[in-house]
Amino acid sequence: MQGLFITFEGGEGAGKSTQIQYLAETLRASGHDVVLTREPGGSPGAEAVRHVLLSGAAEEFGVRMEAILFAAARSDHVEELIRPAVAAGKTVLCDRFMDSSRVYQGVTGNLEPDFVNTLERVAINGMVPDLTIILDLPAEVGLARARARAASDAPDRYEKEALAIHEKRREAFLEIAAREPQRCKVVDGNQPADAIAMAIQRLVRELDEKQRSDNHNARVVPS
Ligand code: TYD
Repeated sequence: MQGLFITFEGGEGAGKSTQIQYLAETLRASGHDVVLTREPGGSPGAEAVRHVLLSGAAEEFGVRMEAILFAAARSDHVEELIRPAVAAGKTVLCDRFMDSSRVYQGVTGNLEPDFVNTLERVAINGMVPDLTIILDLPAEVGLARARARAASDAPDRYEKEALAIHEKRREAFLEIAAREPQRCKVVDGNQPADAIAMAIQRLVRELDEKQRSDNHNARVVPS
């Protein structure tokens, strides 16, 4: 039986990392074989590209170059880790995926939609998430959290950008959710962590039940 592929998206400081860890523990406790991964990175080839992107080393070469590097990393991650794990029945939880490229490189990077769509198609090669959880919260709240967290650390390439850009990204994630309501579910990130966790668990349970009933129906339909 195929596993599930679930991605987490949202702006800076939305609480993705905490929630993804929490979901991984909950699913493991109920018997799922969970693979926890992230982008950019997640496979040796993609991790090699991660540093180039997040340090800002590629910034001077322009946003097209960065978008291609994100896509190269994603392709490696999909083929080396995600697809084999899902085919083996594992539940893959991924911190950021294709929607981050649509938003960061496409919308706030001002890249032409055709270019972004083509890169996406090549990079994911059919590996569309079964569920994408978009953790939504006001940009100023997220940025304040990200900055507090990074007080000892220098902000990365993307955390340094202005509030208006973060607002635009929030809108862009919400637009994706409105366009693809089957795949994308918005969860309010501006509530206590355990309320967020419950909302996410409910969505995953619904998906799991739907997949089990689809598998069951596929078996009982005469061929
Ligand atoms: P990371 O340190 O992993 O942090 P977080 O997900 O907690 O923000 O940083 C990843 C950064 O890379 C983040 O600012 C978003 C950016 N990014 C893109 O611009 N495009 C992409 O396709 C992906 C996956 C990430």
